[in-house]
Amino acid sequence: MGLSFRSLSVSFSSLCLLSIIHFLCFSFLALAIHRNNNTDRLALLELKAKITDDPFGVMNSWNSTLHFCSWHHVTCGRRHQRVTMLDLSSLKLSGSISPHVGNLSFLRELYLENNSFHHEIPTEIGNMRRLQILHLYDNSFSGQIPASIFNCSNLVLFYLHNNNLVGRIPAGLGSLKKLREISFGANNLTGVVKGT
Ligand SMILES: *[C@@H]1O[C@H](CO)[C@@H](O)[C@H](O)[C@H]1NC(C)=O
Ligand SMILES: *[C@@H]1O[C@H](CO)[C@@H](O)[C@H](O)[C@H]1NC(C)=O
Ligand SMILES: *[C@@H]1O[C@H](CO)[C@@H](O)[C@H](O)[C@H]1NC(C)=O
Ligand SMILES: *[C@@H]1O[C@H](CO)[C@@H](O)[C@H](O)[C@H]1NC(C)=O
Ligand SMILES: *[C@@H]1O[C@H](CO)[C@@H](O)[C@H](O)[C@H]1NC(C)=O
Repeated sequence: MGLSFRSLSVSFSSLCLLSIIHFLCFSFLALAIHRNNNTDRLALLELKAKITDDPFGVMNSWNSTLHFCSWHHVTCGRRHQRVTMLDLSSLKLSGSISPHVGNLSFLRELYLENNSFHHEIPTEIGNMRRLQILHLYDNSFSGQIPASIFNCSNLVLFYLHNNNLVGRIPAGLGSLKKLREISFGANNLTGVVKGT
């Protein structure tokens, strides 16, 4: 009798413990989601801040009235409300790409082609581990291809042609196992790609 009562009270207190853990887990989860959501929003605003010319006014929708998932040219995942695609192609945009782009950690597709972006491709691009498609062609990017690109292990399509890039094509690009297409014509690059 006494034994079963004790095991009952033990299981009751472990139930309490379990619900406390449960509660804590959910609070942390909610906090994490909130923080990450804000990270994407901040990153997009930093990107906007570095765009110096926007003749079509496409960045006007990137304002606090709307959730960033409703901003023009931004696509979010339906479940987690993180940015998965950014399509700023052919919008006559000038300026540079903010290093904050690397904080868009759920980004899978980045289209920046056919604009007047200049300065260097930020090293932080290598932080986007989910990136599959990277279109930078037909711009005025200068400097070297950042070696951090090797960290984008999911990269499938990588188009760089028609920029002002210099230096060597990183020899290890062939280590990107999923890479199917790469283009870098009309730059001042030297070197060969090995392993493809
Ligand atoms: C925010 O963007 C929306 C969509 O383009 C626009 O209708 C609204 O006027 C903008 N708000 C401000 C304060 O600019
Ligand atoms: C490049 O962008 C301009 C401006 O939006 C557009 O008129 C032109 O058709 C685009 N070119 C290509 C090849 O997409
Ligand atoms: C985002 O990126 C910038 C520059 O890479 C960095 O300084 C910042 O701490 C990052 N994190 C957040 C949450 O904005
Ligand atoms: C790739 O990522 C690793 C781990 O985060 C980091 O230590 C390394 O410096 C990165 N490589 C480059 C070239 O950025
Ligand atoms: C590319 O090389 C050519 C010939 O050496 C040179 O005239 C041109 O200025 C270079 N362009 C860049 C962006 O370095």
